[in-house]
Amino acid sequence: MSKLGLEDKVVDQKTLDKSVERFKERKIRLPKFEELKDPKKIPAEIREELKNVDPNEPHPLNLFRINWFNKTGKREFQEVPEYLVLPKELTGIDAKVVVMLGAHFPMVACHKVLAAYGCLAPRVITGQFDPISDRAIWPSTGNYCRGGVAVSRIMASHGVAILPEEMSQERFDWLNNWCLDPKEDIYATPGCESNVKEIYDKCNELDKTPGNIIFNQFCEFGNTLIHYLCTGSAFEKVVDDLKKKMPHLKDPKFFSSATGSAGTLSAGDYLKERYGTKIVAVEALECPTLLYNGFGGHNIQGIGDKHVPYVHNVMNTDFVAAVSDASTDSLITLFNTPEGRDYLVEKKGLSRELVESLSWLGISSICNILAGVKAAKYANLGEDDVVLTVATDSAAMYKTEVEKAIAKYFGGKFDQFKAAEVFGQHLKAVTVDHLEELTQTGKDRIFNLGYYTWVEQQGVELADFNARKDPEFWTNLRKFIPVWDKMIDQFNEMTGV
Ligand SMILES: Cc1ncc(COP(=O)(O)O)c(C=O)c1O
Repeated sequence: MSKLGLEDKVVDQKTLDKSVERFKERKIRLPKFEELKDPKKIPAEIREELKNVDPNEPHPLNLFRINWFNKTGKREFQEVPEYLVLPKELTGIDAKVVVMLGAHFPMVACHKVLAAYGCLAPRVITGQFDPISDRAIWPSTGNYCRGGVAVSRIMASHGVAILPEEMSQERFDWLNNWCLDPKEDIYATPGCESNVKEIYDKCNELDKTPGNIIFNQFCEFGNTLIHYLCTGSAFEKVVDDLKKKMPHLKDPKFFSSATGSAGTLSAGDYLKERYGTKIVAVEALECPTLLYNGFGGHNIQGIGDKHVPYVHNVMNTDFVAAVSDASTDSLITLFNTPEGRDYLVEKKGLSRELVESLSWLGISSICNILAGVKAAKYANLGEDDVVLTVATDSAAMYKTEVEKAIAKYFGGKFDQFKAAEVFGQHLKAVTVDHLEELTQTGKDRIFNLGYYTWVEQQGVELADFNARKDPEFWTNLRKFIPVWDKMIDQFNEMTGV
């Protein structure tokens, strides 16, 4: 299981010693998972020092900002994560659609740096990564690798990004700024978002060279564990805050999240245990692998395709929904052009403040919202109901994609008539098609589809593959969190930072 990041003791003392040396020299202290879950547990002097640290630089203390509680502007923490409540005037439904915002994470303005840390920390403390001579390989559709490169920079290590060549220009611009050696450290694999197999192929090729350490978010359980703990409990804070403001609200009925690595989806496991919330896994209609065993290219960047991630707890998933990239591309245009915004304010009566806050939503965030609306319509939710979802990144990553969408869908010019059409077609007319409430048969079907990627292509043992069908496998995983936290304490003692 070492391939899957699940070690609970030191496996290589010499490598660990190298990490201690580098962390001492760079004054890097590792945050514990519990500190990232609840930044109040971060020592007061670190919180104080953070006020003088720019959230957008590769400063060691920014590791402590890899949590959901950064204030807009990001110098301090707050009690409740930033979130939006989308009103009926926008969603067309009575239920409250509540979106927790990932753009306040440091360095990458996207919550995928949490997954990167979740995969990195267990490797460092168990002696499986030497930051002095190893290269950290971060396979991704463009945000996880940015998170990985950011934490690699902090360690002064080579962080290597693998991402499909058709990902947004903004991702490549960011990587060019942050990679130590952009020529050597960025691999653009063939194709678009859907071409995850090509990413695995590149990983397997690089894995043959000693010193290349693959941090594979699609099969490393540090990804799901950190989301279960940190994202799940952050949502709980949001729910508490909502109920304080609107005491009539019921426990959240749905959590919708598009699956790339399916890390974020594990926050649903937490919410189901806490509130009985149903989990909606979302994908692109143009590549509906879970829903129809489908394939194809699409532009909902970050959500992954033609495979079932190894860390997806399929048997705990309740619904699968597919959303078209024509909808997400059109809506990101509506939300981020002056014409679209004026339409929403002047014709739909939305406040200017709310409309401006829609730029906190990236393409996959809009996809998540539409899936939440579908589920709410399917279940006839009312005004006391809540649907939770997440905005992984913001529109800042997609300025060039809005330009492309205007050329592709709107003949090169977006105006208020087109805004009205987009609103009518992609928001008002959301239907419950391409949505499946999973029976046992449906769950088995999706679970079994993963066999081809993981057992046949990637060489996972069949017994390990099948073990994930048992709910206890997932609850047992959680015992790693306190073990890793203890090892992080010991590691920090060794470095003396
Ligand atoms: C923009 C965006 N949305 C959604 C996702 C999917 O998140 P997860 O990998 O946790 O399933 C990703 C993953 O990289 C992403 O970058």
